[in-house]
Amino acid sequence: MYDEKINMDEFVMGVKLLRWHLASMARGKVLEVASGTGRNLGYYNYGLEGGAIGGPVSWLAGLLGLRTEESVVTKLVLTDKSEEMVKTARDKVSTMGLKADVQIDVGDGSDLSRFADNSFDTVVDTFGLCSFDDPVKVLLEMQRVCKKDGGRILLIEHGRSNYWEWLNSVLDEGKDQHVEKWGCEWNRDIDKIVSDSGLLVDSRTKWHFGTTSVIHGRPR
Ligand SMILES: C[S@@+](CC[C@H](N)C(=O)[O-])C[C@H]1O[C@@H](n2cnc3c(N)ncnc32)[C@H](O)[C@@H]1O
Repeated sequence: MYDEKINMDEFVMGVKLLRWHLASMARGKVLEVASGTGRNLGYYNYGLEGGAIGGPVSWLAGLLGLRTEESVVTKLVLTDKSEEMVKTARDKVSTMGLKADVQIDVGDGSDLSRFADNSFDTVVDTFGLCSFDDPVKVLLEMQRVCKKDGGRILLIEHGRSNYWEWLNSVLDEGKDQHVEKWGCEWNRDIDKIVSDSGLLVDSRTKWHFGTTSVIHGRPR
């Protein structure tokens, strides 16, 4: 029910636009960890007809100061710890009739040992750092498998606000209930987690009163 429950919220909050922006920066061989139900699948440019960013979305993204690229994804590997999420993502690939090279498997983001060092051009995580038992470990693994020379690490994450303390109090108050329902600690300090992992940050933009971060980075 994950997709049904968050679809409208994401639309209203412009999250779909953020996903589009981030996916447009993904290029080459791409790994997405904690890929969930494959909510970014429709936003990557696989170099197939009709798959490129363009038109009104690209214009709107530009208006909001979001960069978009026409980068092409040549291979996409999705991985998530939950078998149910993976099954939904696989079904989505079939329903979309996606002809691209997409592989989806069940796996823990904190152990990507089945992937070699320096093996992906782009490593993506969207809304995963709030859910991992050890988010720093996952970021370290993401950096290990990302190419040191020109590789990109792209994140959309949510957590505590960096400037609205009243909002952080609300997040702190409701944390336990939110964890119970979503398995997500929505009051984590994303900037600290990123900094603790040593990820080199090229750009960071904040949305939704500072609770959502869009980060373009590189492995340390
Ligand atoms: C909030 S959802 C985000 C899903 C997706 N990335 C998105 O943008 O919609 C968090 C996801 O993290 C996955 N997850 C939690 N812990 C994980 C771990 N240690 N390794 C891999 N996936 C994990 C969950 O199964 C869930 O699909």
